[in-house]
Amino acid sequence: MVRLQAPLADRYTAASELELESMIRAARAELGDRLVILGHHYQRDEVIRWADATGDSFKLARFAADNRRADAIVFCGVHFMAESADVLTAPDQHVYLPDLNAGCSMADMADIDQVEECWADLDSAIDVTRVVPITYMNSSAALKAFVGEHGGAVCTSSNARTVLEWALARGDKVLFFPDQHLGRNTARTMGFGEADERVWNPHRDFGSLEERDVKEATFLLWKGHCSVHQRFRPEHIDAVRSEHPDVEIVVHPECAHDVVTMADRVGSTERILEWVDAAPAGAVIAVGTEIHMVKRMANAHPDKTIVSLDPLICPCSTMFRIDEPHLACTLEAIVGGAPVNRIAVDDDVAYWARVALQRMLELTATPTPALAR
Ligand code: 13P
Ligand code: SF4
Repeated sequence: MVRLQAPLADRYTAASELELESMIRAARAELGDRLVILGHHYQRDEVIRWADATGDSFKLARFAADNRRADAIVFCGVHFMAESADVLTAPDQHVYLPDLNAGCSMADMADIDQVEECWADLDSAIDVTRVVPITYMNSSAALKAFVGEHGGAVCTSSNARTVLEWALARGDKVLFFPDQHLGRNTARTMGFGEADERVWNPHRDFGSLEERDVKEATFLLWKGHCSVHQRFRPEHIDAVRSEHPDVEIVVHPECAHDVVTMADRVGSTERILEWVDAAPAGAVIAVGTEIHMVKRMANAHPDKTIVSLDPLICPCSTMFRIDEPHLACTLEAIVGGAPVNRIAVDDDVAYWARVALQRMLELTATPTPALAR
């Protein structure tokens, strides 16, 4: 999805690192407790160092839902994360995304028109009231609203199994979008096999399926993927294992199923971080996720060998859009009383998206993470 990010003023683009640092520091000091900066693990080092709380998308959503202190929440992440934070915060709390072009190519692979068309197609073939729609967090608020209104829920990479088990206790089938890999990987951990799933291609009539397919399948998996995680291949695992026989392979569940099957551990970005932190000195770990996070973990643990599973760099180009000039501009605009880049979800959409997000939060209750500052 194309969004319009206004070009930054020279004040920010021409500023030195030290100048940007002092702008951000001054704005934070001025805003004090009125401000919270949230940072996803894929953010660059120079951005994440300013975050009051860091996490995977579940942890950051929980933080937004539980934090009533700040009236300005600056989300250093991507658009769907900022939308979810807006949906989960109080009306007097405003969420800002430093660069409006920080989207997610996977989230853009399912739009509301396509999902509504799919639902109507399913309705023509089966009892659609027995289908529970589940959307991955990486989706627009409109899709979250769709699942909320149709008895479904949101899931993230850290709770997909819990949410899918909940869904199958309420219906016979799951329509899962937009990431086929997270859907497939989770279904397989629940004991389902290839015969239980079909891939719905939103660009073909009736998803490129037959009526018989939707009757037989328990999981209808949207044909979407993450361009970063699909690059990891079994050959990378073979190569790193032959170079380091003791290596532990840790991957994100957005990777393809053949990669996930070969890995030693599979988890959300927060879980990956926990595993790497807890590994003993001398451990060799190859990680299949975004490169900024992998490099940060490697720098934080000089006593361990932490490498990217794919030796060629694997960045998330949209996460990378958030930088210090955009952060400084966003913060100074808030201080100046003329905020920019507010992410505000329409009330009607927000109502049902909140229902879907709250179902997930209730299913996976955990304590609120503490602030870093
Ligand atoms: P996490 O919820 O694991 O942080 O994943 C978000 C994401 O976009 C991974 O590509
Ligand atoms: Fe989206 Fe993939 Fe980037 Fe995650 S890594 S934000 S799924 S494009």
